[in-house]
Amino acid sequence: MGLQSLAVACGALALCLALTTATNPGFVVRITQAGLDYAHQHGIAMLEKKLAELTLPDMSGDFRVLRVGKVHYELSRLRLRSFHLPYSRISPVPNVGLQVAISNAFAELDGDWRVKMLFIRDHGSFDLKVENVYIKISLRLGSDATGKPTISTSDCSTRISKVRVLFSGKFGWLYNLFHSAIESKFKKILESKVCDSVAESVHNELQTYVRTLPVTAKIDARTGIDYSFVAPPLATAQSLDTGLKGEFYSLAHRSTVPFSPLPLSLPSDHDRMVYFGASSYFFNTASFAYHTSGALVFEITDAMIPKDVDFHLNTSTFSAFVPQLEQMYPNMPMKLRLSTPTAPFLNVGPGGISLKPVVDVQAYAILPNSSLAPLFVLSLTGNVSAVIDVRSGHIVGSLNVGRIKLSLKDSVVGTFQVRLLQSIMNIFASDILLPRLNARLDEGFPLPLPDRIRLLNTFVRFHQNFLLLGADVHFQPKA
Ligand SMILES: *[C@@H]1O[C@H](CO)[C@@H](O)[C@H](O)[C@H]1NC(C)=O
Ligand SMILES: *[C@@H]1O[C@H](CO)[C@@H](O)[C@H](O)[C@H]1NC(C)=O
Ligand SMILES: *[C@@H]1O[C@H](CO)[C@@H](O)[C@H](O)[C@H]1NC(C)=O
Repeated sequence: MGLQSLAVACGALALCLALTTATNPGFVVRITQAGLDYAHQHGIAMLEKKLAELTLPDMSGDFRVLRVGKVHYELSRLRLRSFHLPYSRISPVPNVGLQVAISNAFAELDGDWRVKMLFIRDHGSFDLKVENVYIKISLRLGSDATGKPTISTSDCSTRISKVRVLFSGKFGWLYNLFHSAIESKFKKILESKVCDSVAESVHNELQTYVRTLPVTAKIDARTGIDYSFVAPPLATAQSLDTGLKGEFYSLAHRSTVPFSPLPLSLPSDHDRMVYFGASSYFFNTASFAYHTSGALVFEITDAMIPKDVDFHLNTSTFSAFVPQLEQMYPNMPMKLRLSTPTAPFLNVGPGGISLKPVVDVQAYAILPNSSLAPLFVLSLTGNVSAVIDVRSGHIVGSLNVGRIKLSLKDSVVGTFQVRLLQSIMNIFASDILLPRLNARLDEGFPLPLPDRIRLLNTFVRFHQNFLLLGADVHFQPKA
């Protein structure tokens, strides 16, 4: 193969790789049957309320009655007293969406009747009982161009097998003769009204609710998280799975992440209502975003040194380790500037999250006119492990640092024995840097949750390349 065709082949391969990995989610949300059942319970309660608010049109018409002649009737003030949905089930339909089957629902209505025949006029009230109502609803789940979830009714059918009207009043007997005609009229109207109400509730309530999921959220002064859907939710026989982008970004400057998510497949656990899979991509974009936004730059000054440490950040102290300082910058305060030359890479495996960051420590002397004179650069590295937990809908963490390794990267004050600085650097790392980093990690990073959801019974488990979080859900309905 010539060099040129090799280049073309590589280009095509890179493109193919980019195309195939582009849709891999960095974060996966799975709602299990238990989760669907819980959501269903609240959904049905809401639908029951909406159906009980159904309004029916007034009806009128004429009958012919033997020996009496034409009877004109009017039914008005039709009012649903209640609509009960005692039996229902929700199930995922693989590759289609969700199906809700409601059976043996029943409702009660009442209203007024008015009659005109020959010279007689009269009125009274009636009761209507609707029984054996079956409703089948198919829900289609998707995502729009902004990566927000969408939900709509793709199909709805209502079958009512029993309607009983009972008229009371002087001429009630007359109506009761014609109950079947009136009943079938009611049945037809109700059957279409129920599905209208379902579609309206799905659109107004459910769709509005699922769209409270913040797909991109600013999480602090420098970064945001992108939780937009990479594809419509996928229904399987056991669950509803959604792939989200799961990418942190710098607010000031969102740049293309120079790596892609690996395929992520969650284990088949199903005893919790929801599972979240946070891939190593998710964690590494956090590292990348904080690095590129300049958040991983940290300055240590004398004022930050704990009072119980008998040590000052000045050239007199440091000249014990770096002899040249004494003559070059006598008696001057110092300052250290810590930064990461590249975004630290986080490794997620069954043992947890670990990283081996490289940190450059630039030391300065602060001159009398306040300008900084660069002294030397130390390179620090060490094994860092992270403990991860879930609290208040946030992923929280804390870091532990093992032994720190030092090397001299650059110096304008001559060479010196870096190992002499070992214990000082350990104190700086464990008493100054780490508590500050851990305070931020303890505030955590939000999980993708719609409004009024609280997680409970949470657990955290590490797998190769992803972190699995399981939880049950508590929904707080609007007061
Ligand atoms: C430097 O630190 C030492 C103690 O470590 C202290 O005695 C001295 O006063 C400090 N000098 C300056 C200029 O801050
Ligand atoms: C501060 O002082 C140093 C040396 O005394 C000098 O080289 C530098 O230009 C001064 N900087 C400013 C901003 O005056
Ligand atoms: C970090 O861990 C690796 C393997 O676990 C080990 O070989 C290495 O010596 C450790 N580095 C430090 C600085 O402790």
